[in-house]
Amino acid sequence: MSSSGERHLTSLPEVHVAADPEAAAQAAATEVLALVRDAVAARGRASVALAGGTTPGLLYRNIATVGRAGAPWDRVHIFFGDERCVPAASPHSNYALARRELLEPLGIPAGSVHRMEAEIRPAAVAAEAYEKRLRAHFAPSEPVFDLVLLGIGADGHTASLFPGDSALDETRRWVVAVRAPAGYEPTERITLALPVINRARAVFFLAAGGSKCAAIEAVLGAEHPVHPMPAGRVRPAGRLTWFLDRAAAGRWR
Ligand code: 6PG
Repeated sequence: MSSSGERHLTSLPEVHVAADPEAAAQAAATEVLALVRDAVAARGRASVALAGGTTPGLLYRNIATVGRAGAPWDRVHIFFGDERCVPAASPHSNYALARRELLEPLGIPAGSVHRMEAEIRPAAVAAEAYEKRLRAHFAPSEPVFDLVLLGIGADGHTASLFPGDSALDETRRWVVAVRAPAGYEPTERITLALPVINRARAVFFLAAGGSKCAAIEAVLGAEHPVHPMPAGRVRPAGRLTWFLDRAAAGRWR
């Protein structure tokens, strides 16, 4: 792992391109379930960090449709890659979407859901609180998620790591407070730091729609030692897989 905590891809990313967002979400759901089953079989439990934004809703619904038989859900711990600094019940909360579309339908035990309490003020304290929760779960090791689910913004941000933000260079703290740029409301957020994401055994991106195409082509099209787009700096030594619809895939279709 380099000094910045970034590992370099030892294998090229897998890119799955489906006809439309629903088909992409179905393909991703199948892989998520297989990965979770394998992780529990191998280590007795699985730790998954959910993505934010709206796209994961399609994925969650596909996973919930399979039902509890899809994976040993009682052995799965759910975390979050980032969260907006809003109450848990806010329509802007990443947790609220997951609870409605995935956690409640699958009856995930409350003790297995590790919500980012991003409503704590100041946000730096919320970030420290989540880091404590990660330490408790992964102790005595550093956090290694079996799967981190991510989305991507039109500017190439992922989780709440935005282009040019000093949070991209964080290598000591595991969770950091950030302010999103104008246009990305709510602006105050907390997010996993890049080295934690890059330690994951697998990272899946799920993206749909033409607005993401330029960013995805930039990220998939060129390897930079330090990519200008945060999504381009997600370089796990483990598995990296993109689930895209044709509109988002562009020349990668
Ligand atoms: C967030 C996300 C963010 C999201 C992208 C894509 O909290 O907003 O973590 O990185 O994944 O902005 O969002 P959409 O799925 O809504 O397009």
